Amino acid sequence: MTNTRKSIHGSWSSRLAFVLAATGSAVGLGNIWKFPYITGEHGGGAFVLVYLACIAVIGIPIMMAEVMLGRRGRQSPINSMRTLAEEAGVSRRWSWLGWSGVLAGFFILSYYSVIAGWALAYVFRAISGTFTGATAEGIASIFERLTDDPERLMGWHTLFMVMTMIVVARGVRGGLERAVRFLVPALFVLLLLLDGYAMASGAFDQGLAFLFKPDFSKIDANGVLIAMGHAFFTLSLGMGAIMVYGSYLPQRASIAKTSITIALLDTLVALLAGMAIFPIVFANGLEPAAGPGLIFQTLHIAFGHMTGGVVFGTLFFVLLVFAAWTSSISLIEPAVAWLVENRGMSRVRASVLAGVATWLFGLLTVFSFNLWAQFRPLGFIDIFRNATVFDLLDYLTANIMLPLGGLFIALFSVWVMKRGDSLDELGMRDAFGYRLWRVLVRYVTPVAVIIVFLNVTGMVDFSGLLGLSG
Ligand code: PFF
Repeated sequence: MTNTRKSIHGSWSSRLAFVLAATGSAVGLGNIWKFPYITGEHGGGAFVLVYLACIAVIGIPIMMAEVMLGRRGRQSPINSMRTLAEEAGVSRRWSWLGWSGVLAGFFILSYYSVIAGWALAYVFRAISGTFTGATAEGIASIFERLTDDPERLMGWHTLFMVMTMIVVARGVRGGLERAVRFLVPALFVLLLLLDGYAMASGAFDQGLAFLFKPDFSKIDANGVLIAMGHAFFTLSLGMGAIMVYGSYLPQRASIAKTSITIALLDTLVALLAGMAIFPIVFANGLEPAAGPGLIFQTLHIAFGHMTGGVVFGTLFFVLLVFAAWTSSISLIEPAVAWLVENRGMSRVRASVLAGVATWLFGLLTVFSFNLWAQFRPLGFIDIFRNATVFDLLDYLTANIMLPLGGLFIALFSVWVMKRGDSLDELGMRDAFGYRLWRVLVRYVTPVAVIIVFLNVTGMVDFSGLLGLSG
């Protein structure tokens, strides 16, 4: 049946606006901050290869499914799932999928905002020339001084949450669309510039080899889960962010083309960031597995020594803040849309309520870097022996909640929803593309997610088959 629903929240002005907004959601700290450091922690090439494979065979098909469900439901993920479940004649409990997404968004934004706060702090450090001529140790100690201080972290976290609430309160077209139009292209230009610097750093080959030469003895089952989780995280999948953006998508736009474009842009940004960072890491004898502080400790070596470094350094962190900003609004949008639809709140009240709650929860992350830095809540489990509260939140959301959300989105789209409805919404005319999508979402995604889960929990061991180390 053809879809005639309309969103009460308005819609994007065009397909391009959606592409930019969804790219804005996808491209964020995940690409520039997280991708390099987890790649560094998991040995490089093999991890990158698994991540790329997950983007292609799981990420893109799930993104299509999510946009499709959103556009067909035309409401917040919770209500869209309920409506679509009714349409398909199954239990309304499918709306729980929307709830788990709201919860995941809440958890993710709580720490995302703290890290984005670091980027904000670095804008001001860069502008004042703090890094000019600084040594690697000097730069590392600047980072430590920031994260050791709970009050400062709280201040920056507060500022970033307020910024997020303001844009969300202004709504779909007012705030969002305008910002992303200039931001995404500018970010590309700056990354290219950094890559240029990295090329001249003397260790470009070593950096490339680290990123692109797979050595499967360096990755274990948990590494595979993290690579898969990151594919969901970086594309903003599995929690309803892309679904709610899809609900504002004009009816005619092609979902397949759009999803592929977004995934390609997102991947490109991550790879460009990796190619900028690792040569600098190796040229300066730094540790690729330095953890969450990696980009904050490496890029300034480049900025500190290039001409115009103050300007470029400042600009880079400004763009990083923007990239985080366009992602953070999508993390909170599912909750805000629901509050407006079901509680009759204005967007402003809904944004403030959701924002304040997330801010409070974010204090857990703030303290993970200082007051509670030694606290290991799950230290008795081997893979979590060094994990702080922040590490656990990140692990729980990116590696468990998002893939699980994606699994259920996949199951719903092809096992529950009528074939005719998905065909109609995707608008693919039963071509080869549609059949390929169906096979991937029907079998490949669920099987892959389940195998990776089973493998990590140790219930089944497929590592031997893949030649993995453990
Ligand atoms: N994709 C964002 C990033 O890579 O930084 C993070 C994110 C946004 C994850 C929205 C999930 C989400 F729903």
